[in-house]
Amino acid sequence: MRWRLLFREQIKYCSTFKFSPERLKRSGCNLLKGRNLIDPMDFSLVELEEIFNYADEIIKDPKDFSHVCDGKILATLFYEPSTRTRLSFEAAMLRLGGQVLGFSEAQSSSASKGESVADTIRTVECYADIAAIRHPKEGAPKVAAMNSKIPVINAGDGGHQHPTQTLTDLLTIRNIKGGLSNFTIGICGDLKFGRTVHSLIKAMSRYENIKFVLIAPNELTIPKYIKLEVLEKNNIEFLEVEKLEDVIGNLDILYMTRVQQERFFNEEDYIRLKDSYILDKDKMLKAKKDMIILHPLPRVNEIAVEIDTDPRACYFRQAKYGMYVRMALIAKLLGVDK
Ligand code: NCD
Repeated sequence: MRWRLLFREQIKYCSTFKFSPERLKRSGCNLLKGRNLIDPMDFSLVELEEIFNYADEIIKDPKDFSHVCDGKILATLFYEPSTRTRLSFEAAMLRLGGQVLGFSEAQSSSASKGESVADTIRTVECYADIAAIRHPKEGAPKVAAMNSKIPVINAGDGGHQHPTQTLTDLLTIRNIKGGLSNFTIGICGDLKFGRTVHSLIKAMSRYENIKFVLIAPNELTIPKYIKLEVLEKNNIEFLEVEKLEDVIGNLDILYMTRVQQERFFNEEDYIRLKDSYILDKDKMLKAKKDMIILHPLPRVNEIAVEIDTDPRACYFRQAKYGMYVRMALIAKLLGVDK
């Protein structure tokens, strides 16, 4: 695979001369070009900052970027339902001047005939320059990346990871709260199956002075591997509680999530747990005046509609940041950023 070899050569070249990220950029050494995004830890903090800064430039003057991807094609391979992720990927590419193709359900692809993800991506790379893939099986986007000559982006794999939602969350926090350090972050709802939660904890654990308050019913607590390999390993302070009311007053950020119905084996369990949390005006009375509420969406019942007009409700702004950060990501991975 030529680009992988080229990339290795670039790394060797860049690390030999110990260039600073700024010097690397000036020297034309774009370390994001040709890369995949499968896990939130795939990019360094410097690389993330590069994407966020580029997203900020796009936000300031989107028209200036409307031809950056002229002649390029994004494939969206969605084996699971999606509104925001797929549409924001597609809007991102269209607003950069590129074009999109793909499918929005496994049934309308050759997966329904038994084709493997590896064969699908080998075919798609003949038609497109970059691919975003969402799949119910954990690890499927990684398999695609291992078999692909074009950059592959994980748009959500089962109950595992969702790194571009995390880019969205981080850009939102950075721009609304003015940074990514020194926060107490409450994460509430389905912490067991919620892939956005797993990716967010991984990514935020690299910033200074971050504390987590993990709010979930007993059956939906955070997986052990996140606790051991991310939180405990990095000495991150965290608290596990069941009641939102008891802790809401201490939070700078409240990240609400829905109970992930599609990952349950048993419908009765889902029905019992689905309304574990409902954020309403009463609960918000106890929250800080500058706490922000985030949600990857879709919302089911966990945030009462009456909260939407509260200035602290940032989830629809978050959805818009999702498009801008994907514009930045696509341009960087294609190496067409100007
Ligand atoms: C999330 C997902 O697909 O994991 N949605 C999204 O991408 N914005 C969250 C969810 O479905 O609950």
